[in-house]
Amino acid sequence: MKNMALVSNIKELRKSRTGIYGLDEILGGGLPAGRSTLVCGGPGCGKTLLAMDFLVNGASEFGEPGIFMAFEETAEELTENVASLGFDLDALVARKLLAIHHVQIGRYQLEEAGEYDLEGLFLRLDRAIDAIKAKRVALDTLEVLFARVSNPAIVREALHRLLGWLKKKGVTVVVTSERGSSPLSHYRMEEYVSDCVISLDHRVSEQMTTRRIRVVKYRGAAHGTNEYRFLIGKSGISILKERAPVVNLNEEAGRQQLDLQRKRDLPDAQIAALSPKISVEEVRIQQRPPRQTGRSLVRTRRSAARLQR
Ligand SMILES: Nc1ncnc2c1ncn2[C@@H]1O[C@H](COP(=O)(O)OP(=O)(O)OP(=O)(O)O)[C@@H](O)[C@H]1O
Ligand SMILES: [Mg+2]
Repeated sequence: MKNMALVSNIKELRKSRTGIYGLDEILGGGLPAGRSTLVCGGPGCGKTLLAMDFLVNGASEFGEPGIFMAFEETAEELTENVASLGFDLDALVARKLLAIHHVQIGRYQLEEAGEYDLEGLFLRLDRAIDAIKAKRVALDTLEVLFARVSNPAIVREALHRLLGWLKKKGVTVVVTSERGSSPLSHYRMEEYVSDCVISLDHRVSEQMTTRRIRVVKYRGAAHGTNEYRFLIGKSGISILKERAPVVNLNEEAGRQQLDLQRKRDLPDAQIAALSPKISVEEVRIQQRPPRQTGRSLVRTRRSAARLQR
């Protein structure tokens, strides 16, 4: 009986759904709700877009308004940049489901006498969160926020304070960080102060680019530990569900593969109706990459045989 009582008292970690195709599956439901997640990676790998996708989906699908604190791009630039992903930020802002704040790091935030004054930022965040009853916050990027601070100990202390304060506010936070060049990454302190760390990567191999995502850590929860390929396309970020190995997949072929995967995931009746078309697409896509693995050749032959029947 005692054990039963103990078991029933165990609380599942609350999750905040990202709404990003395939990502919630890897995260076991979503990002840690009311806590912070660090999204790190090199230039152009999709940090800003992932943070924005999280806020846009929260606002439009899950009834959770969000605040985007941009330390680099202006609200106009951000709105323009994500329009190609089908995000209408102006409409969300007008409905008070989203607020974008471009914060320029001013003199008051200079490192002085061993302290880093974040009061101005706290005040602005506090007002912004209360104004639209925000449940999600994105901070983009930490390097720009702390650009003027040379002492890593001060950065760590300030980051601790900032994330601790946001936790008390009860919001789910995504912070972005560039890997490799800053004191933050150098001392790996971001990994100690965030509950969840997601790493993004954009690799070029044999003139083909591939984007990859990996959940590096997730305090108190099981998660997918592999690297997963992802795409940035007309509806934002999508994780590829890899059931068949396809070599040298470029972005366009990948997009078609994803479309195919979505069709495969449809209910059985719809699949039955679509299956001749899917087989034709499968053959076309798999013939496209320059090299194919043994397994994908076998799959191609099987699909061709199916077509001839
Ligand atoms: N509509 C789109 N379709 C496909 N890819 C896109 C689209 N819009 C943007 N991208 C890709 O996303 C990349 C930019 O992503 P994002 O701005 O999130 O990167 P980042 O990691 O924040 O970069 P930085 O370090 O420069 O801030 C572009 O370089 C481009 O490759
Ligand atoms: Mg960015």
